[in-house]
Amino acid sequence: MPTAMTHIHSDHEEMSQAAAGATRKAVERVLRRQDTFSLVLAGGSTPKRLYELLAVEDTPPIPWDQVHLFWGDERLVPPSDPTSNEGMARETLIDAVDIPASNIHPILTAFDHPETAAKAYEKVLVDFFAGPPAFDLVLLGLGEDGHTASLFPEDRPHEAADPGWVVGMQAPPRHSPRGRVSLTLPAINRARQVYFLVSGEGKHESLVAVRDQQDPALPATHVAPEEELHWFVDRAAQGGT
Ligand code: 6PG
Repeated sequence: MPTAMTHIHSDHEEMSQAAAGATRKAVERVLRRQDTFSLVLAGGSTPKRLYELLAVEDTPPIPWDQVHLFWGDERLVPPSDPTSNEGMARETLIDAVDIPASNIHPILTAFDHPETAAKAYEKVLVDFFAGPPAFDLVLLGLGEDGHTASLFPEDRPHEAADPGWVVGMQAPPRHSPRGRVSLTLPAINRARQVYFLVSGEGKHESLVAVRDQQDPALPATHVAPEEELHWFVDRAAQGGT
């Protein structure tokens, strides 16, 4: 089991600053012993500020020519769509840094079915890692229903016998767009580290259910990376005083 740590911050801004600093240090530490750093980006709104902070010059600097970007999940829409996770990352981070296009590995969505897009992305990962994916850091958000990436409780992804590394599905009706592609739990859990970013009082219940009560019915509960699991939360999500 990984070492799990919670970092509580006064608000979303301070949480984002802390997660940015930790990411920079993780990149610096890993690049001391290998040539590339593989970073998986989360979707949704919580990580936007973190991405903006990673895009600015700060110490330690991020050598973007040695960083490879992947996505934890994607909606089956074009990058130009306002709900695209790739589009959000390009707007907040990628367009502002000098990263080679060959270092950017989006989940391609120009497919009729999520399952086809998933198979295509699985090939991208297996080709890049010359075998099973082994990300250096995976960034994840947490839904109010305990989902993470596009792994939803209704699908019971933690019970899948052999889910592979990437899965395609229709998200439950409350989530739009419904066509989704997502890393599986085995792909996430082969990572060295995972950072959860959880902000806002609306996330308090799912944070407690996943982190504290470890409710087995919730996919996020089954996130267990090889080395370290960090929860970056703000006081509103943490709850209490
Ligand atoms: C997505 C995300 C998803 C997200 C959570 C939290 O594509 O929607 O990957 O798992 O991280 O739903 O979303 P917010 O950060 O917007 O609350």
